[in-house]
Amino acid sequence: MSRGASNGRPMRTREAILPDAEQVHVLIAAYSGDGTLLPRSLAEICENIRDFVVLEYGGRIIGCGALHLYGPHLAEIRSITVDPKRQSGGGGKRLVKALLSQAEKHNVTCVCLFTRIPEFFSRMGFTIASHQDLPDKIHKDCYKCPRLHYCDEVAMIRGDVPRFAILPAPINWLKIEA
Ligand SMILES: CC(C)(COP(=O)(O)OP(=O)(O)OC[C@H]1O[C@@H](n2cnc3c(N)ncnc32)[C@H](O)[C@@H]1OP(=O)(O)O)[C@@H](O)C(=O)NCCC(=O)NCCS
Repeated sequence: MSRGASNGRPMRTREAILPDAEQVHVLIAAYSGDGTLLPRSLAEICENIRDFVVLEYGGRIIGCGALHLYGPHLAEIRSITVDPKRQSGGGGKRLVKALLSQAEKHNVTCVCLFTRIPEFFSRMGFTIASHQDLPDKIHKDCYKCPRLHYCDEVAMIRGDVPRFAILPAPINWLKIEA
């Protein structure tokens, strides 16, 4: 995990542990009300805490992000956020880098994400993809999203477009697609 300084302020990322879950929950909740981030319950965060990386500054957690593993062909960056008071200090970039090294550690060939701020991620090597290139994401989350047919999020990838999906389509998928 990275250590160093940004604008003279010490900052570091590290893998999250269970006692971090409450603060991670608070950070995500600040941006889930308006749909910027998917809401995550405290129970869900605890269950998936090993997916998370946290950003620390002065011993306090000021940011977080998660890497969800679908399989060797795909992982997804989720729930990435920095405390509004601490943004623009390089923390977001550190989180993305830390999550990308997690993906590398697992030899994942494609990292994806859905976002409304593609400019932020394109600076870190992500390129725009089609939603249809990522059926696993659709089968996991999008099919139950009220904005399925008018999604305003841009799909982005870093790496090779996955050639298969590991998750089955939802049972009533044809009805949903119509
Ligand atoms: C997106 C977010 C994590 C960025 O964190 P941050 O600590 O402010 O980002 P950084 O300071 O590391 O910025 C890194 C670079 O991206 C740029 N950047 C930051 N936010 C940006 C944005 N919203 N749009 C475009 N570029 C952005 C910065 O200018 C900086 O550029 P530089 O490297 O040329 O200096 C933070 O703004 C946030 O928590 N936003 C609300 C939640 C959210 O939108 N999460 C993403 C959901 S997909």
